[in-house]
Amino acid sequence: GVAAKIAPSMLSSDFANLASEAKRMLSLGADWLHMDIMALLIESLRKHTTAYLDCHLMVTNPLDYVDPMGKAGASGFTFHVEVSKENWQELVQKIKAKGMRPGVALKPGTPIEEVYPLVEGENPVEMVLVMTVEPGFGGQKFMPETMEKVRVLRKKYPSLDIEVDGGLGPSTIDVAASAGANCIVAGSSVFGASEPGQVISLLRKSVQG
Ligand code: DX5
Ligand code: ZN
Repeated sequence: GVAAKIAPSMLSSDFANLASEAKRMLSLGADWLHMDIMALLIESLRKHTTAYLDCHLMVTNPLDYVDPMGKAGASGFTFHVEVSKENWQELVQKIKAKGMRPGVALKPGTPIEEVYPLVEGENPVEMVLVMTVEPGFGGQKFMPETMEKVRVLRKKYPSLDIEVDGGLGPSTIDVAASAGANCIVAGSSVFGASEPGQVISLLRKSVQG
């Protein structure tokens, strides 16, 4: 469905207090916790929460991570299309077999057509993550030119989960939401706010209209 999912990116949290940072975000209304990080950290956090851990694998060999991430307790497993042209079918199958929800991410420079086969196959991904910055780190500037991809996707797939990641916050959410994004990752804008709960509810309102 296209229900709003607000996903604070834990990359901007205080790693030394990961468990309490996660609880804080959930108590302030977060739906998912976005994890740009590795299996060990997910395993540690899983001991402290039942939350949906939305894991974004910015790695060149995602297949190697399916088992470790499954064991660690990942909920969603989003890999990059740029590194999975040959083996995405095997990858999606294995992700599902481990009880995780498969998603595919694409960088700002990657054409949207590249994800169509993964959404339309008989074993489809369940989410497309449209990167709105170059992957790497938090705190970068939102790239509005990526919104055309979101619009095209939303038109083609009315009930697909479409996630945006990078530079989202109060000043960029409206353009992303009106393009059709429903899963919103937000790192620095949430963790850097004096009232993170207000930012989370503002993001949600913008998506839900
Ligand atoms: C960027 C990561 C993002 C990052 C977002 O490569 O994938 O999840 O944490 O951070 P902000 O919201 O600060 O751009
Ligand atoms: Zn991410």
